[in-house]
Amino acid sequence: SIAYLNGEYMALEEARISPLDRGFLFGDGIYEVIPYYGGKSVGLIPHIERMIDGLGSIEIKCNKSVDEWKELLDEVIARNDGANQNLGVYVHVSRGADTKRFHAYPENVEPTIFCFTFAIKDPEPVDREKVTAYSVTTTQDLRWKRCHIKSTALLGNVMHFQQGYASGNNECLLYNDKNELTEGSSVNAFIVKDGVVITPIQDNQILPGITRRIIIDSLKADGSIPVEERTVTMDEVLNADEVWISSSSKEIAPVVKIDDKPVGDGKVGQVWEKAFGIYTAAKF
Ligand code: PDD
Repeated sequence: SIAYLNGEYMALEEARISPLDRGFLFGDGIYEVIPYYGGKSVGLIPHIERMIDGLGSIEIKCNKSVDEWKELLDEVIARNDGANQNLGVYVHVSRGADTKRFHAYPENVEPTIFCFTFAIKDPEPVDREKVTAYSVTTTQDLRWKRCHIKSTALLGNVMHFQQGYASGNNECLLYNDKNELTEGSSVNAFIVKDGVVITPIQDNQILPGITRRIIIDSLKADGSIPVEERTVTMDEVLNADEVWISSSSKEIAPVVKIDDKPVGDGKVGQVWEKAFGIYTAAKF
């Protein structure tokens, strides 16, 4: 596939960065993953805005405007035949290559900008009998206290994901030291109880997921399913009627097993099907 690196397009295998790049040495960077279905993006502007916010919060100076980012990402998709397939585009901005390894932010270093695409699956059917169902484990959230920043330093997330994966599950749901749900290692989380959709509030404990936002906004606009953003205890998670996880690549994925125990009746729920229909109609 065709990658973009610092102003140039090239075959992905040909892309090279310096080992002194702070993204490599320190995980000092911000990234995004944006889905495009047949060339049409989902949440592109909010993704770009979140990246610009993240870059601002770690003082990486990258002067591209929202429009310039949009043009670049659309171009990367076009060069990879995005109109004829479903692609995710990965965008990475690191602080760039210094001349030495020193913790402080260097002056006068150009950020490294890297994009590449990868194939993503067709959207799942809006059908509770046919959709792929997920199983998850749970563990205490041992990441840092700045989870709202979409940092490329993902070791905490990677270790939690691996914990779920190694035990044959698709994800790992995380809780803080008050036994409150935060999110999953690469997804936001929702529960459904008595017909109400509930998701943890957006604070420093979770990534402000774009899919999460589209879900909340589209359900609110539709009006037929109540939505609450509030603290969710693990007790509520384990006694929920339904549990969902969301991300740009998974959209809204139903979870039917947590730590080997069924969620609700162990089948994908009716609220999921209704909500996924509403989301699917609203996402572009
Ligand atoms: N993961 N929470 C975490 C920790 C994430 O890494 C992600 C995204 C999400 C969902 O955010 P969004 O709806 O904006 O994709 C929540 C991406 C896809 C990844 O790391 O590959």
